[in-house]
Amino acid sequence: MTILGIETSCDECSAAVVVDAEKVLSNVIATQIELHKPYQGVVPELASRLHTEWIEQVVDAAISKAGITKNDIDAVAFTNRPGLLGSLLVGVNFAKCFASTLGVPFIGIDHIRAHLYASQIESPLEYPYLGVLVSGGHTVICKVNSYDSVDVLGTTIDDAIGEAFDKVAKFYDLGYPGGVVIDRLSQNGDANAFAFPGPTMDRDKHPYDMSYSGLKTAVINQKDRFLNPGHEDTKENIAASFQRQAVNIIMKRVRLALKDTGLTRISAGGGVAANSLLRKELKELEKGGYTVTFPSLKLCTDNGAMVAGLAYNYLIDGFRDDVRVSASARVSAFKKF
Ligand code: KG4
Ligand code: ZN
Repeated sequence: MTILGIETSCDECSAAVVVDAEKVLSNVIATQIELHKPYQGVVPELASRLHTEWIEQVVDAAISKAGITKNDIDAVAFTNRPGLLGSLLVGVNFAKCFASTLGVPFIGIDHIRAHLYASQIESPLEYPYLGVLVSGGHTVICKVNSYDSVDVLGTTIDDAIGEAFDKVAKFYDLGYPGGVVIDRLSQNGDANAFAFPGPTMDRDKHPYDMSYSGLKTAVINQKDRFLNPGHEDTKENIAASFQRQAVNIIMKRVRLALKDTGLTRISAGGGVAANSLLRKELKELEKGGYTVTFPSLKLCTDNGAMVAGLAYNYLIDGFRDDVRVSASARVSAFKKF
């Protein structure tokens, strides 16, 4: 089944052609980084306007790069929740019209589930596994029972991990997008330069929940020291110390969840799954006998291939949407797990 996957939930305008959830024929990602750079964050109105301008070209590029024609497409999948409403609507409406014109089925896909599924395209993993979703909007540790069934074990109670990376980078004027810049700066920094605090939470009641706003504030509060002329602290040290603690917070819960659930397989997804330290720490779990997978870098951040990949599973099981399917900014489908 040849599926066109469309992703416009935030600031990436992406379309991909994937066959049977395993063969990525194309995965075009048109990034809006330059547009949002001056604001050091995504401006929703600008994002949706650019999606409107780009969507047709991006879809055309995905089809021609795949070496197919429109008539080879068997179904169209699109992210329809959660995300920025204006951005989502561009992808949803385009996809519905496109599929209807071709006379093929279409289906709306949950962005979070798509991130959790992404690694399956390149490195299929038997269910159940421990899912680690780390993105700009979400931070979740869960038990993934199947492509359509996820039990949430813990979430952030405030900022998402990617949001903390982005806000720290913005405050220190490190560059945009924040996560990528902090990861790069950290390579030349001393992770022990600052002992940033981790969250103090009720570990008995919520053992797998996380918090990132305290860490973010602690890092931001170091700015006076950072600005002190002649002081040895550098942006590299700030970045490395922050990244060290950000990864510690989630890895502690991941190790605990593995121990408590007895799960032996683990997969990460989402933009922060591209982080080199997190990937290294997750990979080290293999020494303890765990099977660890995460998507290649291009499938970590928002992309159409993960949408098409997950959609294949729904479509072969007979699920389809009709023209009433719309966009939702909320995590409705996710909360239900
Ligand atoms: O999954 P994604 O593309 O969009 C959302 O669904 O949110 O994730 C974007 C997030 C941003 O916060 C970005 O700073 C972060 O992923 N990110 C990274 C890295 N690459 C992207 N964070 C840490 N290290 C990276 N290498
Ligand atoms: Zn995402």
